[in-house]
Amino acid sequence: MRILITGGAGCLGSNLLEHWLPQGHQLLVLDNFATGKRELVPQVDGLTLVEGSVADSATVEACFARFAPEVVIHSAASYKDPDDWAEDTRTNVLGSAHVAKAAAAHGVRRVVNFQTALCYGRPRQLPIPADHPSAPFTSYGITKTAGEQFLLLSGVPTLSLRLANVTGPRLAIGPIPTFYKRLKAGQSCFCSDTARDFLDMQDFLRFMDLAIADGAPSGVFNLSTGEAHTIREIFDIVADHLGLGRPEVPVVPAGADDVPVVALDASATRAAFGWQPRFAFEDIIRRQLAWYDAHGVTDVYSHLKQPAGR
Ligand SMILES: NC(=O)c1ccc[n+]([C@@H]2O[C@H](COP(=O)([O-])OP(=O)(O)OC[C@H]3O[C@@H](n4cnc5c(N)ncnc54)[C@H](O)[C@@H]3O)[C@@H](O)[C@H]2O)c1
Repeated sequence: MRILITGGAGCLGSNLLEHWLPQGHQLLVLDNFATGKRELVPQVDGLTLVEGSVADSATVEACFARFAPEVVIHSAASYKDPDDWAEDTRTNVLGSAHVAKAAAAHGVRRVVNFQTALCYGRPRQLPIPADHPSAPFTSYGITKTAGEQFLLLSGVPTLSLRLANVTGPRLAIGPIPTFYKRLKAGQSCFCSDTARDFLDMQDFLRFMDLAIADGAPSGVFNLSTGEAHTIREIFDIVADHLGLGRPEVPVVPAGADDVPVVALDASATRAAFGWQPRFAFEDIIRRQLAWYDAHGVTDVYSHLKQPAGR
């Protein structure tokens, strides 16, 4: 299959490259390396790299014209500076609109989009069903929500996945790399009083094979284990993994830009795709820590503001 992956040099994108190249798919990556890394896109047969932004319509159009993708995975996103509304808008709104228009113009068979659970805002019910109203309240959430709407408007069969926190090789966002890096360096930590839903990369990749198959369902689906676990639970597992026992750690109220609990109801996804996650919470975190033991943690990004005084 000919698959165009925007943001293919990022965490999810590069894991998809490693997963799909051996299956013989032809892949084209469009990435501006805002948070992704050039070295994650190897120079091998079957893989083409285009350096550029999805916000540049001429670049997007040239990629579609030259490569004629059958499937598009839209993984490019801007989030690293919560105050950079302009870049979030360029990448997440305008970039998604360009991808939507190009996919329609070039007869793409299906688009798979990755959406943040922040599209639901502060949820009215838990676990959050995929038909819960959208109520984003951060630059990342607002712009990703607008971008998703353009993709759904395109007329191209589109599967938009509201993702739990996917863990796996090169994860550089959130509490797991942060605690691992800081505790290893002897630095202090704090836990926000929040809970999140995690999904192992292997479960995500198994799902993605189903997502690009002929005749796969389209529409909006949650992809998750459906279980919320507190940030404090993660801290305890990281401390235990590093042989630090059970140290005291301050638990601070969720920031104004944060959501107290995210647990996504993926029962409709399980039924529609015949998919089940195989890894449960503690395994997911310990597999991630084993990966950091072997490979280390590099940069850590966040779409959240640092709480005052931290
Ligand atoms: N990883 C998760 O758990 C998770 C959860 C929810 C949603 N998502 C979504 O999944 C997608 C991938 O996330 P990730 O964790 O791999 O993040 P990532 O930062 O590792 O990957 C994003 C990629 O997009 C690229 N990019 C940014 N702006 C671009 C632009 N204007 N043009 C082209 N490329 C651009 C970056 O350089 C990077 O390679 C994003 O859309 C994100 O919103 C991820």
